[in-house]
Amino acid sequence: MLSDKVIVVTGGGRGLGRAFAEACAAAGASAVVIAEIDEALGEATAAALGTDALHVTTDVSDAKSVEAMGAAVRKRFGRIDGLVNNAAIATGIGGKTFEEIDIETWDRVMATNVRGTWLCIKACVPLLRAAGGGAIINLASDTALWGAPRLLHYVASKGAVISMTRSLARELGDDSISVNAVAPGLVLGEATDYVPEERKEHYVRGRAIQRAQMPEDVRDAVVFLLSDGARFVTGQTLAVNGGFVFN
Ligand SMILES: NC(=O)c1ccc[n+]([C@@H]2O[C@H](COP(=O)([O-])OP(=O)(O)OC[C@H]3O[C@@H](n4cnc5c(N)ncnc54)[C@H](O)[C@@H]3O)[C@@H](O)[C@H]2O)c1
Repeated sequence: MLSDKVIVVTGGGRGLGRAFAEACAAAGASAVVIAEIDEALGEATAAALGTDALHVTTDVSDAKSVEAMGAAVRKRFGRIDGLVNNAAIATGIGGKTFEEIDIETWDRVMATNVRGTWLCIKACVPLLRAAGGGAIINLASDTALWGAPRLLHYVASKGAVISMTRSLARELGDDSISVNAVAPGLVLGEATDYVPEERKEHYVRGRAIQRAQMPEDVRDAVVFLLSDGARFVTGQTLAVNGGFVFN
């Protein structure tokens, strides 16, 4: 599905990002770039992919770091065919009311999840144009669709990601670059280990398909949106959540 494609996955060191990188490699991507802040995690993913892989230590919230990532990718590959904006502050921040969230955490979440998504798109669009077009996938979250409580900074950041997806789809249509969002439900993994059982059960009970969600449930949706078969799909948010909320 992705043969001859070069794909950048941000935050690909663990969790969903690693699953997306592995799925891209399994779908025949000719190269996968991991842009991850944690060097050891990024290197480990790159080494495990079994395809041409490059890890570039990157802080997506930092403009200079993201520009350097883009330059490293240009030097090695000259172009890319897909960008998966997956890096985010996605763990350890829930369970606080809007009154309890502190400003430092609010700003850190916005800087990574919103500014980081924008900066990575800015750095990667010239590389997508060099390929004659391609696909951008932004990781949103169904928390922004159902209005999850006690997570306002994160929910707001993912709402912004959905809005950016729509506007950028229009800005980049002439470049044959599609921009879509994928909104997973609560996926079991390292990032959600800290979530109380009660909230996990709330998700399972509320789904049309009543079981826990795993990374395997999400990864192929991303592969599809990166593929040539999805070239006319743009500006959309695909909820992959077992039917917890319908988008
Ligand atoms: N796990 C879920 O239930 C769930 C649900 C909906 C959406 N999502 C979204 O999916 C994506 C992945 O989530 P996850 O559960 O795998 O989270 P995770 O915390 O396991 O992984 C996030 C990765 O991003 C990296 N990262 C963090 N800040 C970074 C930065 N500034 N620059 C570069 N890399 C950075 C981390 O080191 C980590 O490897 C996120 O966008 C998250 O919001 C997750």
